Amino acid sequence: MQDFISTRDLSAASIYNILETAEAMRFKQNFIQGGKFAANLFFEPSTRTKTSFQVAEQNLGINALDFHLEGSSVVKGESLYDTARTYEAIGADLLVVRHACDHWHDQLVGRISTPIINAGAGKGEHPTQSMLDLLTIYQEFGSFENLNIAIAGDIKHSRVARSNAYALTTLGANVCFAAAPGFEDESWDIPYVSIDEACDSCDVVMLLRIQHERHASVPYQTRTYLTDYGLTIDRERRMQNHAIVLHPAPVNRGVEMDTRLVECDRSRIFKQMENGVYTRMAIITILLNQWGGNHENFTEKCQ
Ligand code: CP
Repeated sequence: MQDFISTRDLSAASIYNILETAEAMRFKQNFIQGGKFAANLFFEPSTRTKTSFQVAEQNLGINALDFHLEGSSVVKGESLYDTARTYEAIGADLLVVRHACDHWHDQLVGRISTPIINAGAGKGEHPTQSMLDLLTIYQEFGSFENLNIAIAGDIKHSRVARSNAYALTTLGANVCFAAAPGFEDESWDIPYVSIDEACDSCDVVMLLRIQHERHASVPYQTRTYLTDYGLTIDRERRMQNHAIVLHPAPVNRGVEMDTRLVECDRSRIFKQMENGVYTRMAIITILLNQWGGNHENFTEKCQ
């Protein structure tokens, strides 16, 4: 693998390799040799993804080159390509990029020889988020085959929905969407269900926030949205005993889910964030071709 841009063309074997490597990363520190540098080029805001890449790089022994948009030459008009090419010329061994364009990677892939990781592309894809979501599901259920997974929220504007729909379908899960009118993405051949049906029948309910930054205006009031399309206390009580709740965060508390459910027993939201560090360590290690360890029996370790 040269770059990590999309889950669309990842085989099941490649995904399992990432998940197994991520699980092994709990017990690994400082094993990337040669004084490598990673440039974290975040052109859009981030708390979790940026910080967990920084921690992942530090855990691996890689030097993180920080990049502050407002203090960079982007404010003088420098392009994404010239910024990335500059970091490559100065010595970055890895580029981690988040940008508001859905297809920013078209400007870099094939033109930059340094490995590139997509840390979020507009409303296109967020493949490292998908891998940490998959790791959290796999730790819980040990398999994806025939697992019923609902992705509920602003599907149309969600890069998380897109990356997870590709990967979960590849792994044999039964994926459905739940969305308020106007938030559907009809380009998918994935069934839509109501939020009630999703909560009553699914093993995993993955909630998404309304992507306000990608809307001119949102046609829903907060309370109405929660009652009609969100995870209320009543819907959570009707979920199956074993069912779990995921959310990529940040959570708009009281909008897509009742604030009391953010840390309820079924919530794995903070577990997802922890898994983000191991997953990003794994992806970096695989891209830099530095994984030489044998995988333990992953399924056994998760139980
Ligand atoms: N889930 C996620 O991408 O969060 P951040 O925007 O805080 O990185």
